[in-house]
Amino acid sequence: MIIDGVLLAAGSGTRMRSPVPKVLSPILGTPLLSYPYRALAGLGSLLSSIHVIVPPGGLPVESVHAGREAPPLQPVIQESPDGTWGACEALFSSRIFLEGPATHFLVLNGDGPLVETALLEALVALGREDPEALILTTSLLDNPFGYGRILRNSAGRVTGIREEKNTSTEERAIREVNAGLYLIPRGILHEARGKITADPRKGERYLTDLVARVVAQGGSVRTHEAHPDSMRGVNTQEELSRVTALLRERINRGHMERGVTFQDPTRTDVGPDVEIGAGTILLPQSFLEGRTRVGSGCRIGMGVHLLDTGVGDGVTVRDYVVATEAVIGPGAVVGPFAHLRPGTIVGREAHLGNFVETKKAVLGERAKANHLSYLGDVTVGDRTNIGAGTITCNYDGYEKFNTAIGSDVFVGSDTQLVAPVSVGDGAVIAAGSTVVKDVPPGALYLSRPVPESRPEGGSRYHSRREQKKNSRKKESI
Ligand code: UD1
Ligand code: CA
Repeated sequence: MIIDGVLLAAGSGTRMRSPVPKVLSPILGTPLLSYPYRALAGLGSLLSSIHVIVPPGGLPVESVHAGREAPPLQPVIQESPDGTWGACEALFSSRIFLEGPATHFLVLNGDGPLVETALLEALVALGREDPEALILTTSLLDNPFGYGRILRNSAGRVTGIREEKNTSTEERAIREVNAGLYLIPRGILHEARGKITADPRKGERYLTDLVARVVAQGGSVRTHEAHPDSMRGVNTQEELSRVTALLRERINRGHMERGVTFQDPTRTDVGPDVEIGAGTILLPQSFLEGRTRVGSGCRIGMGVHLLDTGVGDGVTVRDYVVATEAVIGPGAVVGPFAHLRPGTIVGREAHLGNFVETKKAVLGERAKANHLSYLGDVTVGDRTNIGAGTITCNYDGYEKFNTAIGSDVFVGSDTQLVAPVSVGDGAVIAAGSTVVKDVPPGALYLSRPVPESRPEGGSRYHSRREQKKNSRKKESI
């Protein structure tokens, strides 16, 4: 048995009422199609390759991931998206079908994100038992509305699938539905080529009509029953939100089983590729997405959004931190209200505090920038302290320039570093300085007007103010 995976993703998804292609709708930060792709990829060497049927204009599938080991998605265009059988026919005209080695096709609706590898393994096992059979996946739903119903004869044998729109009143009461996951032998597909006609009501060619055809020809149809929570499809925004809730629950449960603490797992979103170490505590309203990896023993506060960010062990991420493509070293403390933009690397036990924005900023071990700073295109050495309100002026209106700050430097509050500029190890920058030239190691840099105090100046100012106030009072009388 040589099996190819096939994801059907060429439908127009009109019921979503959104310009976003349905199969690319985001679920926990990852496109919907990534989920069934991941389930297929989980079969590993059981599959020879994975194809995706896409609409005429193609689909930007670059954002669809299933981990590093997954075989790449091979797009096949369905020239006219005229139904799920039309999608299968698109395969026939491709070289995959003509020249490929597959004896079986594991065909999955691309809009079913809940499917898991174990379910697909069960289909493959059934296929091994009966290699000539068409294998269907069914499920018993309390509310079967919208799904194709499984028709059985009095002996309990499957005779066909009836789509919702074509059901009679009695058929509508059937709770056994088609899950949209099939294992189809090449011979069956080949035999039906060009022979399935469009449904008169919808004008679509239904893959589900294959079932009655196989039965009529005396072929074998086998079914495997799946739990409803592993087969729900997404056709509307409401269904998208429901499957998102189910996936959130599933993913968070997995992390809890591995020792992660969620204060409220219904209110923390964790994407399917995210890794979190044991002993880490997550507060509500946080969103960890993309390829974010969080170490063990961390505390992730409220409202934290981490995208493609690496967080070492024992890190404290305080409330309302946003980090994208950043790395936070072990034991560091970040936030509250910090914004780490791409290229930020926070050293071991470093601190990045309130209202600090960083971009391409590399901070050394135990470096500190605790308040109100912008640090862009900068390296900061170990143990250096960046005072409140420090700004790297990295942009002259045309180009970006770098700032290099050494180790054990003290940068006083309200300093501007006009790049390109460097500050040597152990230097001290006096508060309120504008650094426009390189500071040698160990130097003290100051740039401020000579301060002056005029002994009577203050009282003269106050008496003048009093006078003004009094004259205004007289006017009003
Ligand atoms: C389909 C099944 C239904 C089943 C349900 C399970 C058919 C005719 N009906 O209904 O029996 O209960 O799934 O969720 O198959 N697609 C294409 N090309 C097309 C049309 C669709 O690739 O021309 C893709 C879609 O992108 C989607 C999948 O096929 O991923 C299913 O299409 P959809 O229109 O959602 O089928 P349903 O009406 O949900
Ligand atoms: Ca569907």
